[in-house]
Amino acid sequence: MRGGSRPSRVDVDTSPGRSIAGGNSLIRGEGVNEKRWVWAVCWMVFVVLNASAARAEQTPLACVTCHEALGGAFAKPIAEWKESVHYLHDIACDHCHGGDATVVVGNLLELSGDEFAAIQSAAMSKAHGFVGKPSGQDMFSMCARCHSASVMRYAGSIMGEAYLQNKGGPSCVTCHGAHRNVMPAVPGSCSKCHKDTTGFAQIDPMNVTDASIAQLSRIRIRLAEEKTLGSKPSLAPRFPGEMDSYQIGLMAFGGVVFLFLIGYLVYAILERSDEK
Ligand code: HEC
Ligand code: HEC
Ligand code: HEC
Ligand code: HEC
Ligand code: HEC
Repeated sequence: MRGGSRPSRVDVDTSPGRSIAGGNSLIRGEGVNEKRWVWAVCWMVFVVLNASAARAEQTPLACVTCHEALGGAFAKPIAEWKESVHYLHDIACDHCHGGDATVVVGNLLELSGDEFAAIQSAAMSKAHGFVGKPSGQDMFSMCARCHSASVMRYAGSIMGEAYLQNKGGPSCVTCHGAHRNVMPAVPGSCSKCHKDTTGFAQIDPMNVTDASIAQLSRIRIRLAEEKTLGSKPSLAPRFPGEMDSYQIGLMAFGGVVFLFLIGYLVYAILERSDEK
């Protein structure tokens, strides 16, 4: 029979806060020698693989059992989620949507309409914090349970504010998708809403601020200048930190030639004064 106990993912320490903080502190931790590092990574891979395998065989979540049986648009999120980085890290439906995933579903075909409705409302219950399709601040709160730094960065940005104020800014899932999380192509995915995406690949799309707009216009002015100069990039760097290696090489070469000329001049002068 299906149902029953809570799936093993909780036992392997993938609860919201801990899973992320734990991962980070392991990676960033100082003084961890290399061998222990390698072992830790192997162990984590083992645990994760084991846990997913165990989950697949043991107790499917109520959400998955019912939505898969309903099929079509109900099941689509599940197929997408199974290809996501969240699935790999044991982040399940209820971690985002809330509700009670431990409800025993039983054989759906044998249920009466009332029984089905009772099971559904027990699983998708507001009392267990169920959220269907989040919008506005609710979307940010959903993701912030585990990605608080990313959410804060985006919420304070021009596009984040445009989203919260309902002014057409993209939400987290506009760019990343809700169930099969992807890293959006930049600037490809931006052209849905922006006509001119020149320079977009050079800014942080999660944190568009007045500073990035200024940065963009500098990039655009430079590109326009290069165009009028016959598309040859100028050799002198415009901004510090923008020197390409060939420019550095060229300047070093110039320096060497200059020093050589000075040396030769000194040599020639000394030679002449010797002759006198
Ligand atoms: C017994 C069947 C059943 C179970 C169990 C179940 N659902 Fe549903 N779910 C449905 C049906 C039917 C709908 C569509 C009708 C509705 O929204 O009431 C739905 C709709 C949804 C929606 C869309 C809501 C919206 O506002 O568009 C989400 C999200 C969802 N379910 C998530 C979950 C999650 C998460 C769980 C597990 C905690 C879960 N469901 C468990 C049957 C179920
Ligand atoms: C990472 C968080 C996250 C996880 C995990 C997640 N969802 Fe969702 N889900 C969302 C968000 C956000 C939306 C709203 C998407 C939108 O507005 O386009 C959503 C929407 C839905 C919808 C409504 C789809 C629609 O287009 O009407 C259903 C049904 C659903 N989820 C079911 C599930 C089920 C079942 C699972 C587990 C297999 C699951 N979700 C796992 C975040 C999540
Ligand atoms: C319960 C915790 C949890 C929730 C809630 C959650 N995530 Fe995640 N998310 C993770 C974990 C764990 C990973 C994989 C490890 C990592 O990259 O930090 C991840 C990875 C990601 C990645 C890939 C990051 C990368 O570097 O490849 C994206 C994008 C993402 N999540 C978006 C979202 C969005 C959007 C929401 C809200 C709709 C959300 N997540 C909600 C835990 C969560
Ligand atoms: C306009 C598109 C866009 C929106 C909207 C967006 N992201 Fe991102 N996100 C990206 C891109 C592109 C990256 C990867 C490159 C980067 O960070 O510069 C990224 C990176 C991430 C990462 C990886 C770690 C990090 O912070 O770089 C996470 C997690 C994430 N986003 C979650 C979210 C969440 C949660 C939201 C909503 C609050 C959100 N994103 C909104 C485009 C977007
Ligand atoms: C769903 C539509 C949407 C998508 C997709 C989108 N944006 Fe935006 N973006 C907006 C809105 C709305 C504003 C706010 C416009 C305003 O207030 O002037 C904005 C503003 C900006 C600005 C500052 C003003 C400007 O127009 O130059 C930049 C830069 C920007 N977005 C970059 C990006 C990048 C990079 C991506 C892709 C990763 C992206 N956007 C995807 C809607 C979108």
